[in-house]
Amino acid sequence: MKKDLKELIQIAIENKKNSYSPYSKFKVSSLVLTKKGNIYKGVNIENAAYSVTICAERSALAGAISAGDREIDTIIITGDSNMTYPCGVCRQFMAEFLDSDSKIVIANSVDDYKIYGLDDILPYNFSKKDLEEK
Ligand code: THU
Repeated sequence: MKKDLKELIQIAIENKKNSYSPYSKFKVSSLVLTKKGNIYKGVNIENAAYSVTICAERSALAGAISAGDREIDTIIITGDSNMTYPCGVCRQFMAEFLDSDSKIVIANSVDDYKIYGLDDILPYNFSKKDLEEK
C-alpha cells in the first residue's frame, strides 16, 4: 500500500529516537522514498572525533544507494529546530542523486512542512554535468 506524505513524515518523526547524538543532543531524522516505492530511514550518527559525524540525510540516502535503489522521489528531513534545513554537504550529496522533480520536504510535524526542489535549496550547483562538459 502506497503511503501518503503525512504518513511518511510521521515515520520520519518517530525515527528521530534512533538519532545517535550524544555530543550535540540535536536529533535529526531523514526518510527517503524512492521512485520504486521503497523507504529508507537515516539519522545523524555522531562520533567522539566530531568531524566523522554523518548527517541524517546522507545516512538515509546511503541506505537507498547501497540497495541499488537510486531514483529518489522524496527526501524528508525533520530535526530538533524549527524547520531543520539540510547542511551544505548534504545539499551537495543530494545533488548527486536527486533530479529536478525530486521533492525535499522539511517537516516540523505532519501538518507543518514545506516542499522544495533541489534548485530551490542548491541553485547553480556543481554536478556530473560539469564533468561531462570537459
Ligand atoms: N545534522 C544533520 O543530521 N543534518 C543536517 O543537515 C544538519 C546537521 C546533524 C549533525 C550533528 O549530529 C547535529 O545535527 C548538530 O550539528
